[in-house]
Amino acid sequence: MLRRLWELSEFPFHPEKLNHYETLFTVGNGYMAMRGTFEEGYPGEIATTLVHGIYNHAAGALVTDLVNAPNPLPLRLWIDGTPFRLVNQHHTALQPPDGAVLGYRRRLQLDHGVLIREVLFRAASGSIVRVVFERFASLHDVHLLVQRVRITAVDGEPEIRVESRLDTDVTNGEVRHWGNIQAEADGATLAVQARTNQSGYVLGMASRLISPYPAEARVEGESPLVSSTFRLRQEEAVSLDKLTVVYTNRDVEADRVLDTARRHLQASVAAGCEQLRSAHENEWARYWDTSDVQIEGDDYAQFAVRFLMYHLLIAAPRQDERVSIGAKTLSGLGYKGHVFWDTELFIVPPLILTQPQIARNLLMYRYHNLPGARNKARANGYEGAMYPWESTDTGEETTPQWSDEQEDGSRIRIWTGDTEQHISTDIAYAVLQYWRWTGDDDFMRRYGAEIVLDTAVFWGSRVEARSGRYEISQQIGPDEYHENIDNSVFTNRMVVWHLEQALQLLDWLRSSAPDDAARLTAVLNLTPARLDRWRDIIQKMYIPFDDERQIHIQFPGFFDMEYIPVQHYQPRAVSVQAILGHKRSIQSQVIKQADVVMLMALLGDELAPQPVLLNNWNTYYPRTDHGSSLSPAVHAWVAARLGLDEAAYEMFEHAAGIDLENNKGNVRDGIHGAASGGLWQALIFGFCGLHLDERGEPALDPRLPAHWKRVSFTVYYRGEKRRLAVTNPVMVTPMA
Ligand code: BGC
Repeated sequence: MLRRLWELSEFPFHPEKLNHYETLFTVGNGYMAMRGTFEEGYPGEIATTLVHGIYNHAAGALVTDLVNAPNPLPLRLWIDGTPFRLVNQHHTALQPPDGAVLGYRRRLQLDHGVLIREVLFRAASGSIVRVVFERFASLHDVHLLVQRVRITAVDGEPEIRVESRLDTDVTNGEVRHWGNIQAEADGATLAVQARTNQSGYVLGMASRLISPYPAEARVEGESPLVSSTFRLRQEEAVSLDKLTVVYTNRDVEADRVLDTARRHLQASVAAGCEQLRSAHENEWARYWDTSDVQIEGDDYAQFAVRFLMYHLLIAAPRQDERVSIGAKTLSGLGYKGHVFWDTELFIVPPLILTQPQIARNLLMYRYHNLPGARNKARANGYEGAMYPWESTDTGEETTPQWSDEQEDGSRIRIWTGDTEQHISTDIAYAVLQYWRWTGDDDFMRRYGAEIVLDTAVFWGSRVEARSGRYEISQQIGPDEYHENIDNSVFTNRMVVWHLEQALQLLDWLRSSAPDDAARLTAVLNLTPARLDRWRDIIQKMYIPFDDERQIHIQFPGFFDMEYIPVQHYQPRAVSVQAILGHKRSIQSQVIKQADVVMLMALLGDELAPQPVLLNNWNTYYPRTDHGSSLSPAVHAWVAARLGLDEAAYEMFEHAAGIDLENNKGNVRDGIHGAASGGLWQALIFGFCGLHLDERGEPALDPRLPAHWKRVSFTVYYRGEKRRLAVTNPVMVTPMA
């Protein structure tokens, strides 16, 4: 095994990439995650610990945030009195007499979910120590964070002071979410409890520094800390472990949160770090058994696909069906932890195929939030379930109506919460995709069908009958540069697909689960008249299409706007919209992201014959500026299916670089979850051509980049693991 294909590494230290790398080096376990900030802190860092489901709408804030939890990471060292750090108080490289960093290397082991940092450090006294920090958020025991610091006296006999802290002085940017903070320090055990100031979530953290030396604990401000001082002989090494346990009142009753954390900590300390670590690594091995994709012939692609899967897995709720994955996973504060269509159309598919139980949890989140979707429909004068564009813990619409203040003090109206309505269909799409691949009829009967049917009820009430056809006005399609347009072809065509699926699903329910069919017919009021209307809409929906050019029209009027040759704006690190300004680009044909191309990805040949698909590509690809990170991977996927090898690979590389190379410049806000899931789909659905054939059986239709030799991967199909491989020149190994 080539270690470097499983390791994200930084060598030497890149201070200019501080916030970017904090995101990349995040560790997590689907319950909580910590950005890769340093134990001793660093100026300008964005130290963030996120726990799924803990949202709060602080007074004065525009919207709800996923709350930055107290920081469990701090572990500070003094070597002969010299503070261990990478820069001095002026934020410049350490120079004697402040000590000196002689060497630095950081590695994130994707296969084991362990982050390791090694630093060779010289104290002002001249003593040299080698310090190795390790951390992992246990995948086996999701409440547990394990840290270790190993200090070796390389030269000299230094006195070492170690201080461990739970830092409660945390915010989301400027916003404070925690109140009622209690901090305790008792022996070597630290504890904090805090309550979010609007939503009332209670979080408890208990932590122990396991040191062979005497330790002293106290509370400073509202943060507890413990320190221990000892001397090392030349070449002596010592390891200290810090275990931290996190609970919230989403796990146990509010008055038991801290006590539960304490008792859990006790048990973890008794188990010992070696056992905790092997249990953690075993869980990772189980994840990778089905989630690894092996690419021979392209190390960059190989690494990128492991990296993306690592990030999806550390954000994926394993044991909780009331939370979902936000647009920036659990690795940053971008988009405030809100859940978008990114989850269902981009992140869920790789999980359906490789970790179906997690995909089910994510879909159950939408099931549990049907009441919020129904409230939104009602509030807007519609029937059924209309999912929020941005969703949090309540399931209510949480899209801000206004942007943050611009430079000139103005705010921009954000319309997506009002009119980006395709999300209801995107969720139905994911439910049906899950069902087809897993054959989980039980889920479908009890939960999934209600989502698909009640969102269909919404559309039945939403479409407008006009001049003998059906239309949908005032929409935002995937291309968000063009707001509140009439008859987005993406939306109209997907609604037709949705209603067709809903009718077929109802037929299936009637024949295989008549009780559920009867229940849902009654509860959702699926009268014959309503179903007739769905059939009528399917027949008469307006699908904007140019007969002469044989292309789908993104929306009527699109081609009347200014044409801007997007391909001339190269090289560029920002969107064409950012270059030309909001005003001009929204009145132009510049497209933010795959829109008609997204429709092609979702419906494939069902949308149109190949020549039309190719015409669509030739029309829309040159007009797209990929201002959204969701765009390149979808283009890679579609280009691969169209046999456009060069464009497919170029878009694949672009997508792979979004987080790794920071080619959109905003990775500090968190991993682009949708781009990650999209990259996987470009690989598996695009290059490998995995699909369900007419009989509903998995089939491959590879179109690998010319320099790739082989791709092998595992998928679950109806509860069975199937190991698949495709090679160049094309050979497909039979389905096991
Ligand atoms: C994209 C949306 C996406 C959102 C969150 C926006 O920039 O246009 O499609 O859902 O970001 O990732």
